[in-house]
Amino acid sequence: MTTELREKVERIVRQVVRETLAASEGALSQLAGALPDGRTPLVVANWKMNHLSEDARRFASGLELADGVEVVICPASVLLPVLASALGAASPVRLGAQNLHFEPSGAFTGEHGPAMIADAGCRYVICGHSERRTLFGESDEAVQRKVAAALGSKLRPILCVGEKLAEREQGATFRVLRAQLLADLADLGSPAPDPRELVVAYEPIWAIGTGRTASAAQAQQAMAFCREQLAERFGWAWAERARLLYGGSVTPDNAAGLIAQEDVDGFLVGGASLDARRFSEIVAAAAPGRGGA
Ligand code: PGA
Repeated sequence: MTTELREKVERIVRQVVRETLAASEGALSQLAGALPDGRTPLVVANWKMNHLSEDARRFASGLELADGVEVVICPASVLLPVLASALGAASPVRLGAQNLHFEPSGAFTGEHGPAMIADAGCRYVICGHSERRTLFGESDEAVQRKVAAALGSKLRPILCVGEKLAEREQGATFRVLRAQLLADLADLGSPAPDPRELVVAYEPIWAIGTGRTASAAQAQQAMAFCREQLAERFGWAWAERARLLYGGSVTPDNAAGLIAQEDVDGFLVGGASLDARRFSEIVAAAAPGRGGA
């Protein structure tokens, strides 16, 4: 059997298993009096190494939120206090960091530990972004330690996974995603973290900053696979409550088509998050009733 055919057969079998298990778990939780939780759409801005204080203030005053959408902004760490004060204490917008060190403190020049990030007002932290992996040599082992350290400090990790273009072209997308998820979510201890505390972002590397977005169907296929992997690890009831984000050249034009996909619960936005108006349009596209859960 060719690799392609085998993957196709495996996908169909997984889909049938998934639907059967979800149906029986749903029935069980209803019997127990609990309805399965909805997934609140989540839109995350990753400013990367962009913007100064004045830009952060302008962004905060231009940002428009949408009912039912959780919004997180991840500025450069030095901008966290400026942005926090520009948003104001009553703002529902959450802050996130773009990276963290897994050690609590110590001689790690240039790094920020989990407690520092939480102390700066962050609730979220991006872990294993592909730029960290490729430009700064972050290994899966380091990413795993970061995810665990974040959870241990009551920060919500946004774990980024995704394949390179050559890997997609070789038909290795699922293999890469599976390997990353297995390695990066290893040893999280027991019991499993609350599914709301862990976010996975599927970011195909060939789509990041290139203007070449994955099609809605490509995103859905990869993200359904990621949810299956989470289900294998933590069970379907868990996986159905965890949020999966798509990232890679998201714009106001393609957001609606992507969020309409069953397994796309929101976005991790780079370039288009630098402008408050464009980012607000993406937030609006994710609103429940417009496409979000
Ligand atoms: P992009 O970046 O939206 O500019 O492609 C996404 C990301 O790197 O998180």
